[in-house]
Amino acid sequence: MIFSKKRKLILAIETSCDESSVAVVEDETKILSNVIISQIKSHQRFGGIVPEVASRHHIEQITICIKEAIDKADVIPEDLSAVAITYGPGLVGALLIGLSAAKAFAWAHNLPLIPVNHLSGHIYAAKLVSTLKFPLLALVVSGGHTELVYMKEDGKYQIIGQTRDDAVGEAYDKIGRALGLAYPCGKEIDEMAHKGKDVFSFPRAMLKEENFDFSFSGLKSAFVNTLHNAKQKKEVLDFFDLATSFQTAVIEVLVGKTMRAVKTMNVKMLVVAGGVAANKGLREALSESVGYNPLVKLVVPPLNLCGDNAAMIGIAGFVEASKGHFAKWDLNADSSLSL
Ligand code: KG4
Ligand code: ZN
Repeated sequence: MIFSKKRKLILAIETSCDESSVAVVEDETKILSNVIISQIKSHQRFGGIVPEVASRHHIEQITICIKEAIDKADVIPEDLSAVAITYGPGLVGALLIGLSAAKAFAWAHNLPLIPVNHLSGHIYAAKLVSTLKFPLLALVVSGGHTELVYMKEDGKYQIIGQTRDDAVGEAYDKIGRALGLAYPCGKEIDEMAHKGKDVFSFPRAMLKEENFDFSFSGLKSAFVNTLHNAKQKKEVLDFFDLATSFQTAVIEVLVGKTMRAVKTMNVKMLVVAGGVAANKGLREALSESVGYNPLVKLVVPPLNLCGDNAAMIGIAGFVEASKGHFAKWDLNADSSLSL
């Protein structure tokens, strides 16, 4: 029984991409600290994440983050019950830095290690807003993933739909780059999208198909081609209209497919998770659609926990621990780990 100490405290570590983050979470959802060091400025000049640069930053930051998270939480290592660690999916070099730090800390303080899937962390961030009701559907939308996940119970995941090519966040970042915006571009395009008109009629791929899969590469190409054609003809396009047209197409597909899945799977709750869950347009459109259905509750994590952070890994860590899922010392990083 790992929670035999006076307090139930998990130290959580997340280094799957470009944020070094360490948190202390108490009693499943109480966040005592959540230190997040972003590396964005180092990657911006390259227009995207450079894996080697990410790993180097994690090495420099991780022990500092661990100390800061413990100090901010006002605890000592002896108070802790376990260490939760993201072991995938993500950049393998980046994951390995967090994993090595987690193992070293857990070994040194005689604590069990809880393996956590990064995407389950995104989903369980919703627990901060509401107790989860099952069966549940999670729309996971991030820089690397676009998935519809059916959950019959805590910790059980069934992917019923996913992108066949680009992830939705990736599409935002790529079309943003074509507009000359700084990486990551989702937030800025979301803001621009609220100032223009949907005049370009971009494709809504796979919207009419019966399955729950997505495709965003056609939309991305249509966007980039529109931009290039205008450039060749020396035409000036309204960037706000471009952003609105892109976002309207994305939201129509995401909401259309998600609402169909909500109905087909007869779920009680819809959780939106991942970096793109911060999208204002998506949040508004989903709450409008779910609003008409009194049998389904929409849960969206607070904005500051939509992006990558260790607190969500701690919350998911409590779920794994309650199922008796602990890692051995030879736990390895798995860059393409699935839910
Ligand atoms: O979950 P996350 O922080 O990292 C991954 O696990 O991938 O998601 C990052 C992604 C980026 O592609 C970023 O452009 C996108 O989330 N993003 C947004 C918004 N805020 C962040 N996309 C659309 N609208 C936003 N407001
Ligand atoms: Zn993420």
